[in-house]
Amino acid sequence: MISKNSVIKTLTFAFFISLLAFSFGAPVLAEDLSNNETCMDCHEDADRDPPSNPDRPQVHNPAGGFFVEDHADFSCIDCHTYVTDLEHDETAPGQEVDCTECHDEAPTK
Ligand code: HEC
Ligand code: HEC
Ligand code: HEC
Repeated sequence: MISKNSVIKTLTFAFFISLLAFSFGAPVLAEDLSNNETCMDCHEDADRDPPSNPDRPQVHNPAGGFFVEDHADFSCIDCHTYVTDLEHDETAPGQEVDCTECHDEAPTK
C-alpha cells in the first residue's frame, strides 16, 4: 500500500521539479514580444523613416522616442500588430500601422 508519507514526498519532489523547470524556462520570457526592450535589441539604431502616406503625421521621432508622448505608453506590438514573431524580417517591411485600432479616425496633418 502507498503510505501517505510517500505521496507527500512525491508531491514535494514534483513541486521542486516544476520550480526548476520554470526557472530554466525563464530566459524564454526575455523574448516576450510585448516587452519593448526585446524589439529595441535590434531596432535601436534603425532610421525612423517618415510614413509612406504624406498626409499622416509621423509617429516615431527620428531623434528617438515619439512625437506624441502618449504613444510611448504602448508596447511596440500594440501598433505593429503584424509583428507576431521574431522571424518578421521579410513579412513586416512595407506593412502599415492601423491608427484606427485606437483612434476613431486616422489622424491627419
Ligand atoms: C503609436 C504607434 C506606434 C508605436 C507604439 C510604435 N510604432 Fe513603430 N511605427 C509606427 C508608424 C506609424 C510607423 C511608420 C513611420 C512613422 O510614422 O514614424 C512606424 C515605423 C516603424 C519602423 C519602420 C522603420 C523606421 O524605423 O522608420 C520600425 C522598425 C518600428 N516602427 C519599430 C518600432 C518599435 C521597436 C517600437 C517600440 C519601441 C515601435 N515601433 C512602436 C507606429 C508605432
Ligand atoms: C533579432 C532581431 C530583431 C528583433 C528582436 C526584432 N526585429 Fe523587427 N526586424 C528585424 C529585421 C532584420 C527586419 C527587416 C529589416 C528592417 O526593416 O529593419 C525587421 C523589420 C521590422 C519592421 C518593418 C520595418 C520596415 O522597414 O518597414 C518592424 C515594424 C519591426 N521589425 C518591428 C519589430 C517589433 C515591434 C519587434 C519587437 C516585438 C521587433 N521588430 C523585434 C529584426 C528584429
Ligand atoms: C495603440 C494605440 C494607438 C495607436 C495604434 C495609435 N495611437 Fe495615436 N494616440 C494614442 C493615444 C492614447 C493618444 C492620446 C489620446 C488622444 O489624443 O487620443 C494618441 C494621440 C495621438 C496624437 C495627438 C493627439 C491628436 O489626436 O492629434 C496624434 C497626432 C496621433 N496619436 C497620431 C497617430 C497616428 C498617425 C497613428 C497611426 C499611424 C496612431 N496615432 C496610432 C494611441 C494610439
